[in-house]
Amino acid sequence: MAKRKKKFYITTPIYYVNDRPHVGHSYTTLAADVLARYHRLKEEKVFFLTGTDEHGFKVAQAAAAAKKPTQEFVDEKAAFFKESWSKLNINYDNFLRTTNPAHISAVTTATKHLYEKNFIYKDKYEGLYCQNCEQYKTLDDLIEGKCPEHQIEPQLIREESYFFRLSKFEKILREKIEIGELKIEPPEKKNEILAFFKKGLKDISISRANVAWGIPLPFDKRYSLYVWIDAFLNYLTGLGWNGEFGKAPNFFPPDVQLMSKDILRVHVTIWPALLLALELSLPKKIFVHGYFTVNGQKMSKSLGNVIWPEELIQKFGVDGARYLLISSLSYGQDGDVSWERLIAKYNADLANNLGNLVNRVLKLSEGIKVKIGKGKPRIKNLEKLFNELKFKEILDAIWQKISWANKHIEDKKLWDLVKTNPNEGKKVLSELLSLISEIAEKIAPFMPETSEKILNQLKTGKGEILFPRLR
Ligand code: MSP
Repeated sequence: MAKRKKKFYITTPIYYVNDRPHVGHSYTTLAADVLARYHRLKEEKVFFLTGTDEHGFKVAQAAAAAKKPTQEFVDEKAAFFKESWSKLNINYDNFLRTTNPAHISAVTTATKHLYEKNFIYKDKYEGLYCQNCEQYKTLDDLIEGKCPEHQIEPQLIREESYFFRLSKFEKILREKIEIGELKIEPPEKKNEILAFFKKGLKDISISRANVAWGIPLPFDKRYSLYVWIDAFLNYLTGLGWNGEFGKAPNFFPPDVQLMSKDILRVHVTIWPALLLALELSLPKKIFVHGYFTVNGQKMSKSLGNVIWPEELIQKFGVDGARYLLISSLSYGQDGDVSWERLIAKYNADLANNLGNLVNRVLKLSEGIKVKIGKGKPRIKNLEKLFNELKFKEILDAIWQKISWANKHIEDKKLWDLVKTNPNEGKKVLSELLSLISEIAEKIAPFMPETSEKILNQLKTGKGEILFPRLR
């Protein structure tokens, strides 16, 4: 019997469409693309889902501020996201929009069943809510009375409301997280979450009386559904799920869900609790990558320090932008970017190191018949680093070899050697060509176009500048 192919389902958060994507959103989506490409190259069956979160107060407010009909506004912004991903050469399998009728219909079905099965009940709600996070806050969460993320005072909400029995799932979720059935990585994030669980989980209000821009509750049309419930179900509807309990769509559950720390808590409480209620299995791994700041500050339009992916592409090319984005964040750490450092890194790693290596070796091989050697792989096996999602560390490992190769050319004075000792020169060139071909293969998930260009240049023997130096 033929061996069944392994499946790999990877997701990004679905992004709010109040604005277009900046480098933060780009990082997550790009990291997912890199992983998806890596797993496709291993010939696994891969599904990569991304999309946009289009309901809720925040989005409706942004549309109103832009003086546009809400649907028109979200159509326009969702198109922006798609366009940016296409420019970044991001190859997803589905782009789920929460205003898609099939999504709305599945969410409606599921909500109705959750109510019928008594996971949802009516009560009075009074509490604090940050409209920018679209999340509830406790006094503990606030710093000087304000949401630390958005620097605004949360609203006091007092209304009759429908609640989801989140508290019921506290114990089982804590256990599953503890034993690693639901993995949270990096490890310090798992510890943070376990500490958070110690405070206990409360039931959450899942209805909104005053937010018209949302999915109506099927059992009480005066309310719309809390945008996060709507949003979480995208990870199911994006695979074609129609809202039925216990019926997992093909590819489910996610093997990896990527995000940054801002939305971790809800992803390890509300989301898996919903899945348990829906009689579906939990994601295998939640991975939290670092957070970007620009010149030491949070990116914000009012500060004018937002970096857009289009600007990166214009300056560094698609693969230059991809390389620089991925190498900006070390595992488990936040990262600060600045134009000066990006340019310096581009020149050092891409123009001078990789670009120069390929160019020099091909130039030196011109007119000489050198066979590309078929030696043992020279770059260490990257599988473990890929499984641990250590993206930057993978690039570092590859770039170490690139640096080594450039140094090797200097040490051997290869440009002289090919003349003074042609046989020895050929041998070194052949080894270097084989290393370059290995490098081209290894960078493929990160820099697909460059990988192909290098492999082509190796075939034709003609070196062309890959990354022009920038000033
Ligand atoms: N719509 C919700 C997610 C619902 S998922 C069921 C949301 N959207 S968001 O537009 O605010 O996107 C948040 C995510 O974007 C983060 O978790 C992260 O993946 C990415 N980033 C946005 N800004 C970022 C940085 N400054 N740095 C790194 N990534 C960040 O929350």
